[in-house]
Amino acid sequence: MRAIAVFTNRRELKVVEVPTPTLKSNRDVLVRVREVGICGTDREIGAFHYGTPAAGRDALVLGHEALGEVVEVGPSVRSLKRGDLVAMTVRRPCTGDMCHACRAGRQDFCVSGHFRERGIKEADGFMTELIVEDERYLVRLPPCLADVGVLVEPLTIAAKASVELGEIARRFPLERVNVRALVLGAGPSGLLGAMMAISRNNEAVVYSREPADDGRARLLRSIGAEYISAVDVPLDQLSTRGGPFDIIFEAVGNAQVAFNALGALAPNGVCILSGVPGGKAAFEIDLNGTMRNIVLQNQMIFGTVNASRSAFEESVRLLEQFMTIFPDAVRSLITERVSLEDAPQLLREPGGIKQVVAIAA
Ligand code: BGC
Repeated sequence: MRAIAVFTNRRELKVVEVPTPTLKSNRDVLVRVREVGICGTDREIGAFHYGTPAAGRDALVLGHEALGEVVEVGPSVRSLKRGDLVAMTVRRPCTGDMCHACRAGRQDFCVSGHFRERGIKEADGFMTELIVEDERYLVRLPPCLADVGVLVEPLTIAAKASVELGEIARRFPLERVNVRALVLGAGPSGLLGAMMAISRNNEAVVYSREPADDGRARLLRSIGAEYISAVDVPLDQLSTRGGPFDIIFEAVGNAQVAFNALGALAPNGVCILSGVPGGKAAFEIDLNGTMRNIVLQNQMIFGTVNASRSAFEESVRLLEQFMTIFPDAVRSLITERVSLEDAPQLLREPGGIKQVVAIAA
């Protein structure tokens, strides 16, 4: 069967033939891959900047944002049956006894760093026709999410952040009213983050580089969010437009933007960092002023990486909710579907919001 693989040493990205997988344990599930989304991480791997093949292998099969359909289940599988739609989780636990996070099934909090990630780090991904996976790592989706289920994995970023935010909110002695959220970046993660803020009745403002008449800006306005273009408003003027923000959700992967936006964070505000910066260039920032505000205004900054099984389950619930409130906006996040053969080209040429490799119907 076919797969998209990257040969890290030879710097090649191409369609390859790989063996068809079969069930090996009683808890294994055979899944036909329907769709796989492409994100910035895949593009970095496709450009040979990131990604590690499994030990002893020279190639890594790409793809970690996947939607599939169960074809066959092992005799001990209880939670899934043939025909079920599933999203595949990405991280697999390390094996060290000392990592209490992985031992507890929370490999998103792995402390050893020896976790594996399918399609990213030391484990093949899902850009292929069939995969075999332990049922623990598969999350069932309702049939109504068939055409947008590929968004479950990217939505886990905001889903996990929101669960963590709920915990943090408990430090504040009063119930918060009129929560204003600023989302940095109008990529899929930022747009899904804005949808989450709106679904929670927060005020949502998205700040990004696209001009104010861009399709993403229109999409945001259609769900009740405000869009501010960096073309019109400099970052340091952001809070002059309606006041400071209780939450900043950074989804742009640019440290300069993230840290300069802290000037717009309200007293007691929380800034969530979710992007992984590729850039290495140094920049100046007033760290004394930043630290003064963090201390004197009880502010908080935390980082979050996706995601646990529970975040995937939360993401499924959220996506169902979004499909009730603004189904057209959710569908319009998927801007292109291409065949497996065209995936290498797509990985080299970014465009649109979420591009998806459609493997099976
Ligand atoms: C994936 C995460 C992964 C991260 C770093 C992201 O694109 O969605 O699962 O932890 O990259 O490898």
